[in-house]
Amino acid sequence: MSYKPRRALLFMPADDLHKISKAATLDVDCIVMDLEDGVAPDRKSAARQTAAQALQTLTFGRTERLVRLNPLNTAECEADLRALLPAVPDGFVVPKAEDAVGLSALSARLATFEREADLPQGKFTLIAIIETARGMVALREIAASTPRLSALIFGAEDYTSSIGAQRTRSGTEILYARSAVVLHAAAANLQAIDTLFTDLEDMEGLQADCTFARQLGFTGKLAIHPKQVPIIQAAFTPSEAEIAAAERLLAAYRANQAAGVGVFAYEGKMVDMPMIRAAQNVLLRAGRTF
Ligand code: COA
Ligand code: MG
Repeated sequence: MSYKPRRALLFMPADDLHKISKAATLDVDCIVMDLEDGVAPDRKSAARQTAAQALQTLTFGRTERLVRLNPLNTAECEADLRALLPAVPDGFVVPKAEDAVGLSALSARLATFEREADLPQGKFTLIAIIETARGMVALREIAASTPRLSALIFGAEDYTSSIGAQRTRSGTEILYARSAVVLHAAAANLQAIDTLFTDLEDMEGLQADCTFARQLGFTGKLAIHPKQVPIIQAAFTPSEAEIAAAERLLAAYRANQAAGVGVFAYEGKMVDMPMIRAAQNVLLRAGRTF
């Protein structure tokens, strides 16, 4: 089974070539060149050109290169696709996703481009941002919209304004939505990526937010500044102790299975399939095979 870790997704405005070039040196799992809300309306066209140029000229190493489009079914989004498809990013991030129809239509269009440009089918991945009330209630259909979809992102800032909630430090107002995104992502075998942490000075707060997100089941988190990247990537990497524990558990499982035993006791606790799957998930996230 192969698994592409997306622990940190670093956003930057696509009209800022300096930030894109810098991001290419950071060994970050993914970068997202933003054509949507991070770019002023009169800079959109320049942003498209800069992102396309960056894709064609910069070396990003192992970093996945994504572009955030403007919302589907807008003239801006159409212009985004026309400018960026020929530059062949690794995929697109779709903001304010609210139904399956738009995503499956985009997927079909990408398939046509792949055929015409002689690219492998499925070359372009899609990631949807769930950040509106309508998107949240359509989670089930969005998660099943297209096999091209690889992850769901929860966007807290747009979401809270769309439901009329107020952002608090504790984040109680977004707990339901965070868990809903994790749940639907897990049910559809997608990665779940948590919202950004806006306070660029509060590294302890970021660390605590990452720990909490991971406990909720998220597999990664958005980043908006280079200094957030190592903290996020470390937080979403299984520790050596977790990896060793998962490997021990799976070895015990294999031994019991070979002896024809189903449920068994291990290190004083009952072990059954959910715990085996959790251990396999740890190894997948660590890039190990089992
Ligand atoms: N990606 C890549 N590089 C970034 C970056 C990012 N998101 N944010 C900052 N940098 C670079 C700066 O260009 C600067 O580089 P330099 O030292 O070579 O000059 C360095 O990191 C330090 O940046 P700093 O001065 O601390 O920040 P800033 O004041 O330049 O920028 C923000 C602050 C918030 C404007 C910037 O971090 C940013 O644009 N973040 C992304 C915002 C975004 O995309 N939002 C919409 C989507 S959620
Ligand atoms: Mg948003």
